[in-house]
Parts: sequence; structure tokens; C-alpha cells
Amino acid sequence: MLSKVETLILILTFRTCFTKLPSTITTCHRNHPDLENCIIKAVEAVRPLLAHGNFGDGYHSPPLEPLNLDNIELGGGQQFHAIFSDMQVRGGSNFIINKLKANTSSMAFDLLLTLPRIDFVGNYFMKLNILLLDVEGQGKVRGHCENATALVKMRGVRYFKDDVELVKFIKMPMRINISVFKMHLDNLFNGDPVLSEVANMIINDNQDLYLKEIIPGLQKALSQKFLDIANMMLAYTTYDEMFPL
Ligand SMILES: *[C@@H]1O[C@H](CO)[C@@H](O)[C@H](O)[C@H]1NC(C)=O
Ligand SMILES: *[C@@H]1O[C@H](CO)[C@@H](O)[C@H](O)[C@H]1NC(C)=O
Ligand SMILES: *[C@@H]1O[C@H](CO)[C@@H](O)[C@H](O)[C@H]1NC(C)=O
Repeated sequence: MLSKVETLILILTFRTCFTKLPSTITTCHRNHPDLENCIIKAVEAVRPLLAHGNFGDGYHSPPLEPLNLDNIELGGGQQFHAIFSDMQVRGGSNFIINKLKANTSSMAFDLLLTLPRIDFVGNYFMKLNILLLDVEGQGKVRGHCENATALVKMRGVRYFKDDVELVKFIKMPMRINISVFKMHLDNLFNGDPVLSEVANMIINDNQDLYLKEIIPGLQKALSQKFLDIANMMLAYTTYDEMFPL
């Protein structure tokens, strides 16, 4: 993740170098009769570009594929404590927008998304008490989830700087539901193959017992990541450019 200072320098550099959006980004008139559909079409048009983050004309955003997440700490109680690090997440750019509610004047956007398939690899440390069994391990983890849905509430502000009206998002809380979640943890019980296999089976058969502890940490990590990405992209533009009259 970029530091605050690096982000600021990038934003300042972009702002002085560019004043117009790249041609790959379509804008929507703020009084468009079907604003929501216009925005959905515009986002879907740039979705393939979000993967690598190259919008052409010298415009870049942080790539979504893979999405790197580090140091996600989950749980913390007696039942469950886990830290996931060096996570590489793939599939996030295949999101489908099911519903959008947009208010451009207050910069409030509610998005309902489906993520058909997300794959992840990384490192884990975990202590889990499941069905009276103490499972502990540290090593590689890989897994996937299918048909996750997310409700994202993007809240932004319009503000003036040197007589130019700019926009930024200040928060982006989300609620995630995951319908299918599978993971495989290497090296449980110091790599004992039989115990490890049994523990992985138990973990995957009882996801309801720990998924509710994973989701809040995931929501927080993704919120912060998407807030950073969205604000880096907004740094290219002014309110009038993005939502022309
Ligand atoms: C947008 O939000 C503003 C401020 O909250 C509100 O006054 C306005 O009615 C909203 N517009 C629409 C179209 O919902
Ligand atoms: C995911 O959703 C699609 C479309 O609704 C459906 O065809 C598919 O069976 C679902 N997959 C799972 C694993 O639920
Ligand atoms: C998650 O599931 C709950 C309960 O089924 C539902 O009320 C909520 O709308 C769902 N949220 C999303 C983002 O799909």
C-alpha cells in the first residue's frame, strides 16, 4: 500500500500534469435522466482497464489484479485468531453491478455488487478452536469464494481548492455476504498430513462457525483499499469534468 505522503505526491503530480480525463472514461451529465444506468455503463466500460490500471493517455490507477492485502488480523478471541499476510487476491475486477443509487450533488453512491469468483493465496497464522478441536498452524493458504455480494456505501465531499471544485471520498463502508468459501491451509499440526487433511475438512465443512469472524476484518481491509484506489482516480478530475452540466 502507498504511504500517505506517496499518495499525496502522486495526486499533486497528476493534478499538475493532467486536466482532462482519458478518452477511455465516459462521463455522465449530472442531470442525465437515467444517471444510474449511465454510471453503470461507464464503470463497466472501464472495468477491464481496472485490472491492470492503465487507462491510456498516461493515466494509471493501482492495478486491481492482483489485489495485494497485507496484515489482515481477524478474530482475536479464544475461539479464533488469525493473521493473513502477503495476500494476492484475483478476480475482483470481474464485479457485476446489480444496483446503483447515485446522488452526485452530495457525492453519495450505494452500490450492490456480485463477485462471481475470487481466488486468493498468501501466508497465514491461525489458532482456531472448532468442535472442541484446537487447530493451530502457520504457512501458506489458498482458497476461493463464489458469488459473494457486497453493498458498498461510497460517501464523498466536494471541496474547493484554488477556485477549482474537486471531489474525494471520505468513507466507503461495505457489507459482504459470502455464499461459498473454501480454503486450504498448508502445514497445520506442523505439517502432519493426516491431521492436516482432517482439520482442513472440518474447517471447510463448518465455515458458518468462523466466517462471521473473518468478514468484518475483510470488509475493513477492502474498504480502505478501495477508498485509496478511488481517491487516486478522482485526483485526476474535477467535479465539473466528471459530472458535466
Ligand atoms: C441528494 O442529496 C442532497 C443532500 O443530501 C439532497 O438534498 C437531494 O435531494 C438529493 N438528491 C436526490 C436526487 O436524491
Ligand atoms: C453463482 O451464481 C450463478 C448465477 O446466479 C449461478 O449460476 C451459480 O450456480 C452460482 N454458484 C454457486 C456456487 O452458488
Ligand atoms: C446479506 O444477507 C442478509 C441476510 O440474508 C441480507 O439481508 C442482506 O441484504 C445481504 N447483503 C448483501 C450485501 O447481499
